[in-house]
Amino acid sequence: MSTEYEFTSNYSDLEPDPSDAFVFTFHSVDEDLGPDQRWSTWLDVERGSRGPEPRPDWVVTEQAAIDTELGVLKTGKEADVFLVERAVEAIGDNPAKSSLLAAKRYRTEEHRSFHRSTSYVEGRRTRNSRDSRAMAKKTAHGRSVAAGGWAYAEWEALNRLWVAGVPVPYPVQVDGTELLMEFIDDGEGGAAPRLAQVRPPKELLGQYFEQLRGGMRELARAGLAHGDLSPYNVLAQGERIVMIDLPQVVDIVGNPKGMEFLLRDCHNMATWFTNRGLEIDEQELFADLLTMVF
Ligand SMILES: Nc1ncnc2c1ncn2[C@@H]1O[C@H](COP(=O)(O)OP(=O)(O)OP(=O)(O)O)[C@@H](O)[C@H]1O
Ligand SMILES: [Mg+2]
Repeated sequence: MSTEYEFTSNYSDLEPDPSDAFVFTFHSVDEDLGPDQRWSTWLDVERGSRGPEPRPDWVVTEQAAIDTELGVLKTGKEADVFLVERAVEAIGDNPAKSSLLAAKRYRTEEHRSFHRSTSYVEGRRTRNSRDSRAMAKKTAHGRSVAAGGWAYAEWEALNRLWVAGVPVPYPVQVDGTELLMEFIDDGEGGAAPRLAQVRPPKELLGQYFEQLRGGMRELARAGLAHGDLSPYNVLAQGERIVMIDLPQVVDIVGNPKGMEFLLRDCHNMATWFTNRGLEIDEQELFADLLTMVF
């Protein structure tokens, strides 16, 4: 939380007058904030922790912006997802601006039971060896790397995939264990439903599959599988689908279980489409994706 102090002094080198030196007043700017608010954290993080360019024009980058908590979207085992509004009032010629964000906050190790096993990260290099040693030793730093590591891993995946044109939420910023991303809405102010919750008509079902395969192909072209793809981790936003929940993206070749993960992704999605009335052969999908990798 940022606190600014206004400092006034009538002390100067020219007129040293000890009697009234330092008239010191301060006021905390945080007084302007409600209990569910904070100053935008946009400028608190380093450049590489802010979303890729070209930045969508809805992204609020003003220093004077305020983040307001609007509620919980979903609590989970490893992370909770909150709805946050980032808004700035009109200042001078600049109009007021606001956007809704999904804030995915990973829990620290003490507060969660993490199901994503280490098999996901095989073949993936940790950023520096101090981090991996710390993780091995389970130091406080290691714990925060372990917790922040998943947020950062998802951040990196979203950046890479968004730039490659894969339908994923735009990654706005990452700050420790908190990932801020585009809120995928239902067009009526609510969150878009998961694929598992919808029964699209046949034509739309076909469009969804084309989009899904396109996204999976892009991933495969980057050598990656989602690793936890299911109708629960794909959102249906009107006529488009958006893949979410990507901290565990798997290196198809570098990870000894890469192929297994890719096949499981294909199985989960082919099963859903087939159950909804569009027959999809998981082996065909799998083979198609492999041609992108090699
Ligand atoms: N960008 C987003 N826009 C809208 N809703 C979102 C967004 N990200 C996540 N959600 C909602 O929050 C839920 C949980 O998100 P996500 O799957 O990323 O987290 P998770 O902790 O892995 O959850 P789970 O364990 O249920 O898979 C999603 O199913 C979706 O309903
Ligand atoms: Mg999920």
